[in-house]
Amino acid sequence: MVKIAIIGGTGVYDPRILNNVYQDEIVTPYGTVQLKVGEYVGRKVAFIPRHGSSHSIPPHLINYRANIWAMKQLGVENIISTTAVGSLNPAMKPGDFVAVDQFIDFTKGRISTFYEGGERGVVHVDVTNPYCPSVRQDVFQAAKAIGIKVHQTGVYVCTEGPRFETPAEISMFAKLGGDLVGMTNVPEVVLAREAEMCYCTISMVTNFAAGISESPLTHGEVLDTMRSNTENIKQLILATIQR
Ligand code: HPA
Repeated sequence: MVKIAIIGGTGVYDPRILNNVYQDEIVTPYGTVQLKVGEYVGRKVAFIPRHGSSHSIPPHLINYRANIWAMKQLGVENIISTTAVGSLNPAMKPGDFVAVDQFIDFTKGRISTFYEGGERGVVHVDVTNPYCPSVRQDVFQAAKAIGIKVHQTGVYVCTEGPRFETPAEISMFAKLGGDLVGMTNVPEVVLAREAEMCYCTISMVTNFAAGISESPLTHGEVLDTMRSNTENIKQLILATIQR
């Protein structure tokens, strides 16, 4: 049984952190999902690069429902995901990791539920604790064990993208209590809750958000910061799996 999955965000495309990796294909009601399955410390682990293996799927076109459904079908109980984010909070700097504990949803055109009436009915899932407390604890302990600093709380504002934000939007998000801004965590976390899986995300700050940053943002800047911290995020994921 595959009980653990990694959803790799921007900059985390390589399943070779696992051993004995093979390609798998899962057919879901929402489409077919290509994923990799490998092993680490004797545990089977599934790996999905959220944007595709060559970053070809933009945030608003990711098949979130198919990805989560496929993992449920495999038997996954715990999902560790990574997300690249901009920061609105001066205490959360480029290169920092944040185990976010809340989100604010500013997406616009995404289907965020498996329950659209009909046979499956209507479900209003509770998101008081959207991110799984037990996997979050594993992340904190893993980070401590390997000496990586992780901010233990943070509010993730999810935008529709794929454009970056205006400084006026960033200023509004900061007033609303946001710490970080990204484009993918909703509906991923919500669907994982609906599927009764334990989900957490490790956000990696790649830049200060528009208007806070002194220069215009580029995707290259995001990738550069990700690249220089890939080794740390890999080690953190592996140490979390080991717990
Ligand atoms: N905004 C939205 N998404 C992001 C950012 C940002 O500044 N950086 C990385 N992902």
